[in-house]
Parts: sequence; structure tokens; C-alpha cells
Amino acid sequence: MKNIANKVHISELLKYVPHPVVVESLTNKVPVVVQGVEGIASQRETLGKIIPKLQLIEQEEYGYHTGLLKNDNLVHTHVNPIIDQVAAPTPADLTQYPETYRKHCWPKLPGYREAVKDIHSKIERIALIVSKHLDQHVINTLKDGSHQYQSLEQMIKTSQMSTARSFYYRERRVSDDANKPSFNYHYDRMNLSACLKDFYYIKGNEVEQPEGAGLNYNTKSKELYNLRLDEGDIGFHVGMSYHILSAGIFPAQAHAVYLPNINGLSRASQAFFFSPSPLTLIVPPINIDINNMPEDDGVVPKHIGLINWQPNMKYTDWNEAIVQGFKKVFFNE
Ligand SMILES: [Fe+2]
Repeated sequence: MKNIANKVHISELLKYVPHPVVVESLTNKVPVVVQGVEGIASQRETLGKIIPKLQLIEQEEYGYHTGLLKNDNLVHTHVNPIIDQVAAPTPADLTQYPETYRKHCWPKLPGYREAVKDIHSKIERIALIVSKHLDQHVINTLKDGSHQYQSLEQMIKTSQMSTARSFYYRERRVSDDANKPSFNYHYDRMNLSACLKDFYYIKGNEVEQPEGAGLNYNTKSKELYNLRLDEGDIGFHVGMSYHILSAGIFPAQAHAVYLPNINGLSRASQAFFFSPSPLTLIVPPINIDINNMPEDDGVVPKHIGLINWQPNMKYTDWNEAIVQGFKKVFFNE
């Protein structure tokens, strides 16, 4: 990959707004890594012990099936670290927007809820700083066209649509389809996604991140970028909602999860997703060509891309449309 700066220490981040590292990495579809975030390492350790236990409890005890991840090799949670249910949906809303207004269920594992909420509050603070940089770059770039732009910082401050998700990829058996990703290339739906350093285990014993394991990105130059984080790092990437809201200045980032062909290898990860509020209109500040992502042609199937967006969609409509796209591509529904 050509040399793209994508790591910045938290203490450096407010010296320039927008910071060139944030702009350079995210406009090139490389995740930005904020280093030296205090107070996340010890709770991360706690989660590293808890997440593998998800496979041992019944599904009803750790949340619902989203319909997005019917994958026998994967156990995953989906909770809102801010409130138990967003807004006050009417019965009609619940029927029309099931993916948006689902009730979340915390897994019955001691210490999990406290650790997730604590890390979320710290990550949200950093997400607000990163979003300030994104806002400023979009406003500088759009100049006169910026009056219709909706601030990401404001959205993150006011939205209660955050989700925290733990993923446990069960122990791998050596197979012939070694090069197939454990989770295929896709874009996230939300504005911004954040992740911590992954955990890897061989037969239950923690090991270093194997070569090529974890999140891999298809960058703007069509090269592969494998994310490697330290304990105090947070990685951020852009989802489809912010692609539209930033008029493509910050493009959605295609990414996949790989687990190398190592017998008994498993992976635990913790991610946080910042979404717009349900009633936010997903409207770009200027006209954009939503299909103009040539670098991802043949990498991300069209139906799980921006093609689901239509002008004047609220986040509810957009979110449901994307989920239908996912079901069509992955499960033929
Ligand atoms: Fe993702």
C-alpha cells in the first residue's frame, strides 16, 4: 500500500482541525487509528475474558438474531449502550421498521454490561473529536454548498442510536476454502464504526494477531489494508450513512473479516457503531453520484451498497432498505 499516514496520538488530535492524518486516511478509505486512549485497556481485558463465553450460553440469553449474520461460526451481541430502546415507536413503527426499533437484550454474563458501557462512554468522547475533524473538512471542501450539511458531531451528540457489538468467531477447522473471508466484504450502515484491538486464541489460549487476520479494508487504491491495533488504540472507519451525508467526501469503507487457516484459531472483537437518529433525513448537502465507487467494483455486491439509498429517506427507511439488500445477497431471501 502506498504510504498513507493513518495513526495519530490523542494528544496531537486537537492541534489542527481538521487534522491531516484524519483526512488523509479516511478519504483514502484506510481506517484512522487514534492512539493512547486512556482507560480502555483494562476493560478491554475484561471483555477478552467474557466474549468467548458467549458461545456457552443460549442465544435468548445474549440478544436477538439480526437477520444480518446467519453464520454458524459466529456468536454476536447487539446492544444499545445508551438506552434500552430508541424513542417510543408506535406499533406501526415496530412493524414497518423492525431492524431499527428492536429491543436489545444484554447477555447474562457478569461484568459484561458494565465493561461495554464504560468503554462506550470513552469511545464516544473520541468519536466526537474525530467527527469535529470530519465536519470541518467537509465544510472546507464544500464551501458555498455547505449550508445543507448536517454536522456529524451534533448527530453523535444527540443520537441515541448507538450500538455495541461483540463478535466471537468460533474455533476454526482447517479447510480447503482457506482464503474465504469469515465475514465477506461489506459496508457498515452507520455513520462511523469504532473498534478495539481484537483478541485471538488457539484452543482457548490467547495468541498474537496472526498475519492477515481480522479486519481487512479495500482502500481507494484497491490495495488491501490489514488493521493492527495496540491496547490503547481505537480504529475508526466510515459507513454508508456518512458517505451520503458527507456527499462522498468521506467514502464508505469496504471491509471483511479474515481468520487464517490455523486449526483451533478463534477471534473475539468489540465494535461500536454510531448511527443517525431514526427520523434524520439521509440527504447529501449537494447532488452526488451514489454509484461512483469504482475501487469496490467486484468486491462488494451492489445490493448491499449505496444503491439502496433514495432521496428523502429517513434513517429508518434507509436502514430497513439496507437490511433487505443484505438478506438478498447473503441469504437469497
Ligand atoms: Fe462491518
